[in-house]
Amino acid sequence: MMRPFKRSRNDCRRMIPMWVSLGSKQCSRASRLPWKGLASRGEPGLQSVALEARTLLKTYHVTTFGCQMNEHDSERMKGMLESLGYEEAQGRADADLILFNTCSIRESADNRFVAHLGEAKRLKSEDPERVVGVGGCWAQSVKDEVFERFPFVDVAFGPGQIHMLAEFLTQDSLTAQGYFDFEDFSGHLPAKREREFQGWVQISVGCNCVCAYCIVPQTRGREVSRDPGELLLEIQALAADGVREVTLLGQNVNSYGRDLPKDDRVTFAELLGRVDAIEGIDRIRYTSPHPKDMREDVIRAHAELSALCPHIHLPLQSGSSRMLKAMRRTYNRERYLDRVAQIREHVPDCALTTDIIVGFPGETEEDFAETLEVVEAVGYDGAFTFIFSPRRGTVAADMPNQLSHPVKRERMERLVEVVQRRARERGQRFVGRTVEVLVEGPSRTDPSRLRGRSGHNKTVNFDGTAGQGEIVEVEITSATSTTLAGHEKLLSRVP
Ligand code: SAH
Ligand code: SF4
Ligand code: F3S
Repeated sequence: MMRPFKRSRNDCRRMIPMWVSLGSKQCSRASRLPWKGLASRGEPGLQSVALEARTLLKTYHVTTFGCQMNEHDSERMKGMLESLGYEEAQGRADADLILFNTCSIRESADNRFVAHLGEAKRLKSEDPERVVGVGGCWAQSVKDEVFERFPFVDVAFGPGQIHMLAEFLTQDSLTAQGYFDFEDFSGHLPAKREREFQGWVQISVGCNCVCAYCIVPQTRGREVSRDPGELLLEIQALAADGVREVTLLGQNVNSYGRDLPKDDRVTFAELLGRVDAIEGIDRIRYTSPHPKDMREDVIRAHAELSALCPHIHLPLQSGSSRMLKAMRRTYNRERYLDRVAQIREHVPDCALTTDIIVGFPGETEEDFAETLEVVEAVGYDGAFTFIFSPRRGTVAADMPNQLSHPVKRERMERLVEVVQRRARERGQRFVGRTVEVLVEGPSRTDPSRLRGRSGHNKTVNFDGTAGQGEIVEVEITSATSTTLAGHEKLLSRVP
């Protein structure tokens, strides 16, 4: 028998544990304090909370699609579930709660997820007590439609509503529900980090840009910067908990602070300076910046701050000013190249990576040739390349002159060739050098070797004896377009 669907948002009359409702606008009487500052697992406060929590289910499995934002949100979901007494299951078949944290950036992301949902449907039919949840950007973009299209889904929630999952799971009886209004940052929720020495920190949500192809403003809403004091406290707590590398996250990370009240306003460059000053933080990364907001103070910060990694991801999208205008990117080819020149002037060895879209509506062979020219001229250390994918509700989806798939494919192949050749050429500058590597684990291709990341964000496979989380010096002996290889320098451990 199917359970009744109740599509109400957040029913304040229901009795819920005080600690579950996290400052939701509708239930402002609920306390948020029990979660505050409990950024890591195993806090005594959390465990006693967990003991009190009345849980209906015991094991969970989360599948994550999409960008680092979603990776970070999934860590929060896992931390929250474990504080409720759940344990992580190895596979979906072993889980009482099956969760998907979805992405909708391109059609391929949607398709991948829908294929996985089929398995969840089957598992649910075998055991109707199982709960299936769908969070993230795809859920937000279709909202309540998710229940019509996939009636076996019990709970759906957008990226700004992760905390409502806990409220849903602690209800007296489970009736299908959707939660889609952005309410709060998830910074105060407990997190289960994948690696104890690396941490994501969400510094803003949403995006005020209007890139014609992009669904993110629909799924993550307007940009909101997090209070700098709160942020720095979170990073201090992470450092105290063993984090050496933080990655600051935002859809447009370097426009951080513009919406903050005047008295509290901190620019992105100032924020970087304050994070750099935190004891124990050896590496700072951030993603994704927008070229229009890549100011000189941020570029200088790369030259001045010892913990800020020598790597900038500067999404190009297209090398044709005509296409950039159609994409509504608000910079042109010249301005972009000026930024690159400024970066090279202040931080000559800085690694540069980018995002490029091929086959945007109306892209001619000449436009595409201009993209190839920029890729040749800049010489990126790496690039994410995407075939344009029309997304519902975006301006570009309804533009005339959509390109055929074979044309897009063929351009993509040519682009990848140039990207890889230039990245391989750029990688050679590391051969013969010694680079500092943060060890992440065994090499994926040869478990007898180690794998880590250099400050330039290159994956480094090497012979050595270091443990996970250590920073060691590695002598580089060879380079491909994506990886470096070498051996650990003896007696090189960086404390
Ligand atoms: N906020 C970030 C990331 C956005 S999504 C930024 O602005 O850089 C990551 C990348 O996906 C984008 O940079 C873009 O290159 C690509 N992308 C976004 N929408 C797309 C679409 N509809 N089709 C193809 N690629 C897309
Ligand atoms: Fe999307 Fe553009 Fe915002 Fe990036 S800057 S999230 S591409 S709208
Ligand atoms: Fe995907 Fe949402 Fe990130 S659409 S790329 S998960 S912001």
